[in-house]
Amino acid sequence: MCGIVGAVAQRNIVPTLVEGLRRLEYRGYDSCGVAVHADGELKRLRSVARVAELNHQVESLSSFLGIAHTRWATHGAPTTANAHPHVSAGPGVPKGGVTRRARVAVVHNGIIENYEGLRDELKSSGYTFESQTDTEVIAHLIDHHYQGDLFEAVQAAVRELEGAYAIAVFCREEPHRVIGARSGSPLVIGVGMNENFLASDALALAGVTDRYIYLEEGDVADLQLGRVWLVDRHGQPVQRTARTLSAFSNAVELGPYRHFMQKEIFEQPKAIADTLDQAIALDPLLFGEKADDVLQGIDRVLILACGTSYYAGCVARSWIESIAQVPTEVEIASEYRSRISVPDRATLVVVVSQSGETADTLAALRHARSLGMTYTLAVCNVATSAIMRETRLQFLTRAGVEVGVASTKAFTTQLVALYLLATTLAKIKGRLNAAHERDVVRSLRHLPAAVQSVLALEPNVIAWSDVFARKENALFLGRGMHFPIAMEGALKLKEISYIHAEAYPAGELKHGPLALVTDEMPVVTVAPNDLLLEKLKNNMMEVRARGGQLFVCADAGTHIEPSEGVHVIRLPEHYGDLSPLLHVVPLQLLAYHTAVARGTDIDKPRNLAKSVTVE
Ligand code: M6R
Repeated sequence: MCGIVGAVAQRNIVPTLVEGLRRLEYRGYDSCGVAVHADGELKRLRSVARVAELNHQVESLSSFLGIAHTRWATHGAPTTANAHPHVSAGPGVPKGGVTRRARVAVVHNGIIENYEGLRDELKSSGYTFESQTDTEVIAHLIDHHYQGDLFEAVQAAVRELEGAYAIAVFCREEPHRVIGARSGSPLVIGVGMNENFLASDALALAGVTDRYIYLEEGDVADLQLGRVWLVDRHGQPVQRTARTLSAFSNAVELGPYRHFMQKEIFEQPKAIADTLDQAIALDPLLFGEKADDVLQGIDRVLILACGTSYYAGCVARSWIESIAQVPTEVEIASEYRSRISVPDRATLVVVVSQSGETADTLAALRHARSLGMTYTLAVCNVATSAIMRETRLQFLTRAGVEVGVASTKAFTTQLVALYLLATTLAKIKGRLNAAHERDVVRSLRHLPAAVQSVLALEPNVIAWSDVFARKENALFLGRGMHFPIAMEGALKLKEISYIHAEAYPAGELKHGPLALVTDEMPVVTVAPNDLLLEKLKNNMMEVRARGGQLFVCADAGTHIEPSEGVHVIRLPEHYGDLSPLLHVVPLQLLAYHTAVARGTDIDKPRNLAKSVTVE
């Protein structure tokens, strides 16, 4: 979603601001802008096109201090007037057509819930508004409190804000400082040599610095050339530790790939191996120091997540119930957070999130805690995220930065983490004997190679994608723990190729969706060689009898052969409980190559954002 970059230095920072925005583009946005201090004035340029277009606009701009933003519209359409930065020129109306000099500039991520009331008050104090955004309220509010010290003005203003915000601010009268503040949305300081930076994601500052200070809830930061000064939510001076993170530099380079999604699909063997690196044995310590006690004490599991992470949770339910025999529920976070449910204190609440900043998942976690459920575990790909900070136990997946909006390697590493959870729970509860544990460890060790062998099937998938690129609808079928894989395949296809795709448990077909099946309907079938195979074959016959075209991902040994209307991609031998990790790969590739054939914007599909930080 929205992205923030800010800088104060003794060199021209405009290229740094624009490069920072470029690095955040993958998160999704529909307008962008930059404001800098130049020639004693506050200069602002904005665009409803891409960052590349903004880059042309700023070619002649040079400044030592500025802020920049990519906006994903929430309040107000994606127009230039609504694009950030927003400015305040103080109260009063322009006279005789003379444009008034802007004094304060602000960029903002998040949503201000009380903006309407604040806007009314500011209007009655003489401020005029030029946008429909909640953010413009912040600019005027800071100006309203400004009495010669921007740091103090920002502290006073944020005390009046309700909702979520990360902001970066500067003003015309203090060309030596950028102020940042956060509550509910992430913000990080990049510490340089006699220069300092701000960003909503450290990735934006890769190549600029490798030292970062993550702001805590309620912090306000004053960035000047050689110093960073922080106060906490109570306005008390506070020190936060700077961390050195150097892993970002390669993450945003495409290398030999055409798109980040393709790169990330092919990075899965390494991402899985890196995630498994910490798992030499099935040990509760994998989930944190207090995990042994917590896992001993729980007798139910509740998994909360959104989108692809929710489907990872659905696979995990099968594993936890079948291997550890612990009753497990999975719920979409946005539903759970707003319904009346029956809490159970002996439940392990597992929140699954690539970004760790998804607003609904975070709210669901807080809701569960407010109901007294304090045994919480995060499975997350970002060590510094809110979800990791707010849970008792944590498992960090090591997928590396995922740039493509369509999640791929984050999903398979989440599955690895959740499989480790299921088997570790089984061990703790005395439901996994030594021989079974050895099998688990052996299968996990071989998993990266097994995924690699499925990636080698890419040419077969490309042949299928020619057919899919000409369709507007598709059905996906699976059974048991492969039904979530069918759902994930359908989600991938709709996200990036814009083809309407729906997934069903194969046994459900005859209860309705079979009415959609004609010779125009491609039906993707996930066909592992497991106990449900014979039933699945019956469902496939039901499709063929109506002329439906079957596209089957079948394990070796299933005896499903290509024939008229039946297209088969042959996977390796059935991979047991970890089979979903293999079966999802051809579906990721199918979505990717279909989207390539349709010419869509694969890494930044329309209307979507990488990290959904609003409700
Ligand atoms: O960062 P999260 O895992 O919490 O994100 C959840 C969903 O927004 C995410 O999985 C989304 O569905 C992806 N675009 C799927 O490809």
